[in-house]
Formats: sequence, structure tokens, C-alpha cells
Amino acid sequence: MTLKFFSGSSHLSLAQEVCSLLKSPLGQREIKRFPDGETHVKILEDVRGLDVFVLQTLAHDPNSYLMELLIMVDALKRAGAKSMTAIIPYLGYCRQDRKDQPGVAIAAKLIANLLSASGISRLITFDLHADQIEGFFEMPVDHVRCQTVLCQKAKKLMGEKLILVAPDMGSVKIVEKMAQELNAGLAVITKERLSACKVRMGLIGCVDQCEVLIIDDLCSTAGTLAEAARLCKQMGAKKIVAAVTHGLFVGDAIQKIVASPIEHLIVSNTIEQKSFPHFMTSVSIASLIAERM
Ligand code: R5P
Repeated sequence: MTLKFFSGSSHLSLAQEVCSLLKSPLGQREIKRFPDGETHVKILEDVRGLDVFVLQTLAHDPNSYLMELLIMVDALKRAGAKSMTAIIPYLGYCRQDRKDQPGVAIAAKLIANLLSASGISRLITFDLHADQIEGFFEMPVDHVRCQTVLCQKAKKLMGEKLILVAPDMGSVKIVEKMAQELNAGLAVITKERLSACKVRMGLIGCVDQCEVLIIDDLCSTAGTLAEAARLCKQMGAKKIVAAVTHGLFVGDAIQKIVASPIEHLIVSNTIEQKSFPHFMTSVSIASLIAERM
């Protein structure tokens, strides 16, 4: 075999799942934190002349995990790896993809620059917050969509009169595509952000007496999902299920979902979850990664 698969410390269970599909052991490495907080990585295998893949998801502690990835790639490069592909199931910082007010950075572009500078020559990532982020990278990007898999899973829980709901204008294109694939109707939520955790919503379309599937790329505080579900309920929805790719679930997000009219939540494992409440189903992306290697 001329390829070798390594993992940072952000999502070992997913890395192990990919390795068992590849029937190849996970690359040995040592990751330490020095007392002053610096990260130290040592590659414990011979990688000379190999195509190397490194999995690291940038969630929960994105700054440390990003630094760990950059240092690991540098170590692999210095150890003689032929090529290095980063597999970043959740690419953190993607919501900072434009200069929407004076004095702010375009952090997503900076991340792209840092990954290139470290020596990564290809990126595999999932459901980017906006398609145009691909253009920030001066390297081939495999932008994998897992919304189709999530929606098919969700459809099994739902009956007739299915309406797919886009929770904001930015997600209309992808939700419209899913609606065509599932032969379902479409409704769109208009969202005005009042603060980091507060939004005001309106609904375009009809969900009365319908089963509703809300699709989003990301659930962070769950403010968006919970409010969208409440609005759909007010507008007469009979049953509400949500499907999200990246489950960050920060703070009391899970409690917000429990208190909302959402009956079931389908989420991929781009981000490791500490617990699985009874209403949550996880869909693994391991095979989608393995088939791209
Ligand atoms: C917004 O553009 C995204 O697609 C998500 O709807 C949003 O980031 C979710 O954030 P939260 O869960 O904090 O409402």
C-alpha cells in the first residue's frame, strides 16, 4: 500500500471507522502538550514516498485542532511523505467567509492560506457553509455532500405530504435540490439575525397539515432549528424532523431542541458527539471518506 492514514485528536472514532473500511491500521503518532501550552507532534512510522491522509475536524476546540493539524502535516512533510491530503469533515471558521462589516477578517480565507502553506495539497471536506469557500483554496477540493444521505434517512421516518424547509435564504438552493430528489414540496424561512443568539423569522410557503423536514448545514446554539420548528408548528405542521450535517450543539443546544416541536434529529458524524439523546440518529460519513482515498 502506498497510502497511510493518520488522525489528529479531534475525532478518533471516525478515523478508526475509516481505517477498518480501508483494512489498514491507523498511522502511529504521538501528540503532546508542553506545560506552556504548545503542541508537539511526532510521527512514529516511516512515511517516505507515501501518499498520506490526515483527518482532523475543526470543532469544539478549533484553534488547538487547527494548530495540531498544521504541525502534524509539517512533521509528515519533513519525514518525507510524497503528498498530504487533509480530511477536514467540519471546516471551522467557514461562517467568517466575507467582510460583512468594517474591521473584520475573512478567517475562512486565512485558514485556506494556512493549510496551503503547511504543505497540504488536497482537501476533502463536507457540506461547506457556502460553495464559494472552495475557491479560497489553491488546491483540489473534494467538497462532499452528505445531505442526500441524511434526507434519505429522514424520509424513512416520514409519511405523505412532505415539505422540505430551508431555514434561511442561503440554504434554499441545496434544500430545493433535495426536495426534487425526494419529490417533496419546498418552504423557505426568512431569517433576520437580531444578535448572535436571537433571530426573527417568517415563512414563505405552506406547511399546514404537512410533515416537515428542516435541513441545515450546521446546528450550533440550535436557535435557528428551534425557532424554525416553532414557526412551522404555528403554521400547522403535523410532524417536524430536522437533518443537519454538522452538529456542534454548543451550550444548551440539545435542551433547546428537546423543548422545541422537533420530534427527531438526523445528524452526520462530521463532529464527534459526547452523547446521543433518544431523538437523535447519527449517520456515518466514514464510507464517503474511504471511497475518496
Ligand atoms: C446559518 O447560516 C447556518 O446555516 C445555520 O443556520 C446557523 O449557523 C445555525 O446556528 P445556530 O444553531 O446557532 O442557530
